[in-house]
Amino acid sequence: MQKTISWKNKIIYQIFPRSFYDSNNDGDGDINGITKKLDYIKSLGIDAIWICPIYDTNFEDAGYDVKDYKSVWKQFGTIEDFKKMINEAKKRNIDIIMDIVLNHVSNQHEWFLKAIESTNNKEHNYFIWRKKLSKEEKNAPSIFGGSAWEFVPSIKKYYFHLFSTSQIDLNWEHPDTIKAMKEVIDFWYKIGVRGFRLDAIKHISKDFPEGIKTSHSWGSKVVKNLQKFNKLAFKNKKNIFILGEASGITLKELLKYGKGKDKVSTNFYNFSWWWIGWSKKTGRNGYNPNWNYKNFVTKMKPFQENNEVTPELITNFLSNHDTSRAISRWGNENTFWNESAKSFAMMLFSLKGIPCIYYGEEIGMLNPIFNLRKDFRDVDAINAYKNMVDNKKIYSEYEMTKYHNINGRDNSRTPMQWNSLINAGFNKGIKTWIKIGDSFKKINVKNQLQNKNSILNFYKKIIKLRKNDKYKYILVDGTSKFNLLKNGLFEIIREYNGKKIVVYINLLNKIKNYQIPKNAKLLLSSWSDNKKSDNKLRSYESIMFYK
Ligand code: GLC
Repeated sequence: MQKTISWKNKIIYQIFPRSFYDSNNDGDGDINGITKKLDYIKSLGIDAIWICPIYDTNFEDAGYDVKDYKSVWKQFGTIEDFKKMINEAKKRNIDIIMDIVLNHVSNQHEWFLKAIESTNNKEHNYFIWRKKLSKEEKNAPSIFGGSAWEFVPSIKKYYFHLFSTSQIDLNWEHPDTIKAMKEVIDFWYKIGVRGFRLDAIKHISKDFPEGIKTSHSWGSKVVKNLQKFNKLAFKNKKNIFILGEASGITLKELLKYGKGKDKVSTNFYNFSWWWIGWSKKTGRNGYNPNWNYKNFVTKMKPFQENNEVTPELITNFLSNHDTSRAISRWGNENTFWNESAKSFAMMLFSLKGIPCIYYGEEIGMLNPIFNLRKDFRDVDAINAYKNMVDNKKIYSEYEMTKYHNINGRDNSRTPMQWNSLINAGFNKGIKTWIKIGDSFKKINVKNQLQNKNSILNFYKKIIKLRKNDKYKYILVDGTSKFNLLKNGLFEIIREYNGKKIVVYINLLNKIKNYQIPKNAKLLLSSWSDNKKSDNKLRSYESIMFYK
């Protein structure tokens, strides 16, 4: 019998499947690879795995360009492999969260191929077309650079794409789109999937003419369309978890779209920290050297301290497949690598909301070094070189490479570092689809399993603590106060029925004074000597008390 744990108590682990474990040594990670590593995932204390898209794809945008929603990309395996994985996961009480790409399909998807074959085909209606572009439309940029409209000579029309030219936006005003997506949900539900991450949901309704605002976020029909879809797709299904991805969601939007009459998802990914260190102008294609660590508090605080934000409503994270590695980005890669990774973990696990660990984070994986433009695989990076280096000359090639080494998405997409052997134990030695991280000899699972003070063992401890009957009510259900102290320390106070967990986070390479809370029991420290220090916290020393 499976134990049912409510979603707010779960810990999620995110996998980028092409880089997790290559079971057949062909250079690409696969579903059987995930199955093989389920015991490892279980040993961490994980309850649910969100897997980035595994559908048939050209992999131009890492599988977010879907060719067929009901089949698996051959590099990842087969539907049978997927069923086997689900069954094995169930035996271990682990749910699988499927990534559902709602907003667009690949230009190789059958619908699009039919749509451009003839305007009389019914599939033509599934997309957004123009015979002529207005002045505004001509200037409308897509999120991955270049124009948002692309001409198709065979039918003499332009189609709309918010992301890359090979990701064609679906027309959600057409009833067939909603029905087709409902069938996708049914298909995976039948196989045993109970969690669904709905990709880019804020974009599915577009208000034209677009004017200067082209991101098409939370368009006027988003609620109507998504509610129609939710009703059709999820009404008769039990214990479903829906994780909405709406980048940059504000508190106001979270409360509007997560609760009440405009509710479109049961949970939203919390983007509070996403932007820290990105360029104001060019986002993750650039870098802001003056980024402010205080933003960890100021951006997250409103979400934590609002009592309408219940713990099941948000999923918090440090990094994901759309960012670089958290420790390279914000922490310390050298002397305090271990302590900074643990400090970030402590901050994540102390906050209200479901924690989501990105594969490799639990061993403190770092950004690799990409020497050349050709080393990058991500469509966002490839386009950025074209648009910002070749065409607009915003950056030199040298600068672009430098910035992508800091913030580019490929940083977090390199193979999982299992051991110090060939290809970091990711496979048996065949060339991998993307380079292996430079740090694998030192940073790998095998090493860390053997070291009781490792980051990996710290993750296990903090997960255990969050599940411990004595603390779980406080850490999951308790109220949350997130304060920036005058000297730069962060203070987190969780409270439930008079019982408290008090946490001090030091994200600085500096010694800081603080007041040890009275009559408090030390639960955890980011420093291995676990010293309840004399009212001082050393560099990256973060500490958790119970009182
Ligand atoms: C989401 C995904 C991202 C992808 C984009 C377009 O933001 O997380 O990886 O590129 O949607 O599908």
